[in-house]
Amino acid sequence: MAFDALAIREQFPILHQEVQGKPLVYLDNGATTQKPKVVIDAVNHYYCKDNSNVHRGAHTLADRATVDFENARKAVQTFINAKHSEEIIWSRGTTESINIVAQSFGAAFISEGDEIMVTAMEHHANIVPWQMLCERTGAILKVIPVSDAGELDMNAFAQMLSPKVKLVSVVHVSNALGTVNPVSDILEQAHAVGAKVLIDGAQAVAHFEVDVQALDADFYVFSAHKVFGPTGIGCLYGKKELLDQMPPVQGGGEMIEKVSFAGTTYQGLPFKFESGTPNIAGVIGFGAAVKFVMSLDRQAMLDYENDLLAYAHEKAAQCEGLRVIGMASKKAGVLSFLLDGAHPADVGMLLDQQGVAVRTGHHCAMPIMDQFSIPGTARASFSIYNTKDEVDALFTAIEKVKQFI
Ligand code: ALA
Repeated sequence: MAFDALAIREQFPILHQEVQGKPLVYLDNGATTQKPKVVIDAVNHYYCKDNSNVHRGAHTLADRATVDFENARKAVQTFINAKHSEEIIWSRGTTESINIVAQSFGAAFISEGDEIMVTAMEHHANIVPWQMLCERTGAILKVIPVSDAGELDMNAFAQMLSPKVKLVSVVHVSNALGTVNPVSDILEQAHAVGAKVLIDGAQAVAHFEVDVQALDADFYVFSAHKVFGPTGIGCLYGKKELLDQMPPVQGGGEMIEKVSFAGTTYQGLPFKFESGTPNIAGVIGFGAAVKFVMSLDRQAMLDYENDLLAYAHEKAAQCEGLRVIGMASKKAGVLSFLLDGAHPADVGMLLDQQGVAVRTGHHCAMPIMDQFSIPGTARASFSIYNTKDEVDALFTAIEKVKQFI
């Protein structure tokens, strides 16, 4: 059965409005996705009926909140096929998840002279925490090069690998270029030299199925808000045997077993990494979001999105004066482009005046922008509720922008 994007659209209240007197064409899904009614309802229900702290109350509301909170963990576990629910650690999002690994894995396993590898297409959240770790420890950050098409140089990667490499941290889908990286290959080669691998799945999980056990990923991180859930909540998946060896990063309530001035002992997983009262409504919304995605035909969804992106690429190829940045053979969700003679910020503003929402700028990935010698791009990023009519609307709007530049 064909994927019914129009029926999906109906479930997203925000899409049914005009902006600037024009029907909204929301093509900024790489920045954040919109929320279906089931997610909005789950958050609303929690605040209207169950609001209470989790894991510590001796009353009915606290029990209900705790059950929903832990069921959300199980839903996220199922979503990425983790082996154990305690391998799912709540964080504020992808950035915090990477920072936790950099600090905790760094404290346990990284010393002077060790090597950490990232790619030239990473966004800042997958660069800066490793730079900070290298400054602290004397480890060395190595960068896997990227071709002009926006693909990883896998030969260079193979040559850079050695037993000195302790961690490879790589984006699954590039937010700036849309490239889908060969993470299975990377994992296999990195494991062969004894390195662990973190995969930043922020831009991947809303597009295709991820199975952390099949991948054999050591760490996999993503944010709820890029997969139809709330902002301010995300997931750090780590293999239990690794997380068990890693120290907590923040101290406080919830993460302790026993506190005394003589010394404190910590809880086991996942609570060791979850100090303080968590974002309970966010977690419950996150659970609803991944259940929403799991209720869809994932293959039909992927085929639909691939078709939509291919259509956008075809239109881009016919559009005079438009240059696509990121021409990898495997892409997901992103069309980054430049218009001759126009700054991306002006393109974004002129598109907005026609109801079309895109992101402009360096997309928090300055190094890859530097490689292309550009200040940034205009980026249309697609989701399951976008349609070919909306792609047409984007290109009609682009033609109008060209008249102003
Ligand atoms: N990383 C997000 C984006 O690409 C914020 O827009």
